Amino acid sequence: MHRCRLVVAVFAALLTIGAARAQTIGFAQVGTESDWRTAFSADMKAEAERRGIHLLFSNADNDAGRQLQAVRGFIAAHVDAIVIAPVVVTGWTETLQAAKAANIPVFIADRAVDADPGLFVARIAADFNLEGRLAGAWLAQATRGNCGIVELRGSEGAEPTIQRHKGFLAIVSQFPNMRILKSVGGDFTSEGGQRAMSLVIQETDGLKNVCAVWSHNDNMLLGAIKAMHEAGLHPGRDQLTVSVDGVPGIFRAMLAGDANMSVELKSDIGKYIFDVVQKYLAGKRDFPKWVLIPSDLHTPADAAAMLSRRGF
Ligand code: AHR
Repeated sequence: MHRCRLVVAVFAALLTIGAARAQTIGFAQVGTESDWRTAFSADMKAEAERRGIHLLFSNADNDAGRQLQAVRGFIAAHVDAIVIAPVVVTGWTETLQAAKAANIPVFIADRAVDADPGLFVARIAADFNLEGRLAGAWLAQATRGNCGIVELRGSEGAEPTIQRHKGFLAIVSQFPNMRILKSVGGDFTSEGGQRAMSLVIQETDGLKNVCAVWSHNDNMLLGAIKAMHEAGLHPGRDQLTVSVDGVPGIFRAMLAGDANMSVELKSDIGKYIFDVVQKYLAGKRDFPKWVLIPSDLHTPADAAAMLSRRGF
């Protein structure tokens, strides 16, 4: 009888260990192009640590082909789940089909894919189109619908670039005297924004007739502000600025009088992402296809509060 009890006890212990086995999740991140991206990566790693998740982290360095390879690697490693922040929206169908064939659930985070929604479980992301609309509406109100605009675009083919442009245009196109005079790519980096703005300053004879700069993220705008200062211009005053992310640097620029508005993109979204992943792995399905992360708008009026809230 004693031996029988011992066997049952060992079996029960093995079951418990099995159930408590750390989950292995592959995370295919875009890169390190902006302060927001860096904050998001840090949050994902910290949240995985908090939950005892074994996170396989890959950084595609903004290279779509490298990111596809990383996801293939997660499939070959038979991870429990895959989270992807897609560099670009296109080219995902085959790889997502391979994950489905391997019975590995995929979750899209931050950005989006242009693929059959049946190929991924859920998307956890903000509404980039709304961010563009908020920026357009704030600028229309600030300029009474009368403004020539320079647009700094993010990485070509990325969902935030596509949707922020569309959302912004949906609003400003309603005002006959609001027009995008120049739209230049800056790849979401500070260096890209500085390079783009230097070019525009030359092409517009020192931003003549430019009343505002609309940047798809804060880092490109911070680079543009540098270029404007070097040209003896006064961003935030002679040219209003609107951007997205709400990183600490933009709040400092606001306090210095160099920036006017940023739509915050929350970077501490690891908890929402892993909540959905772990619910799914536990057999639960009580979550929507798109877990929407809210966006709110910040100006110099709350820049100091935002910096202290973030502990900066
Ligand atoms: O996908 C979100 C965007 O990607 C952020 O606005 C930008 O900073 C990052 O490069």
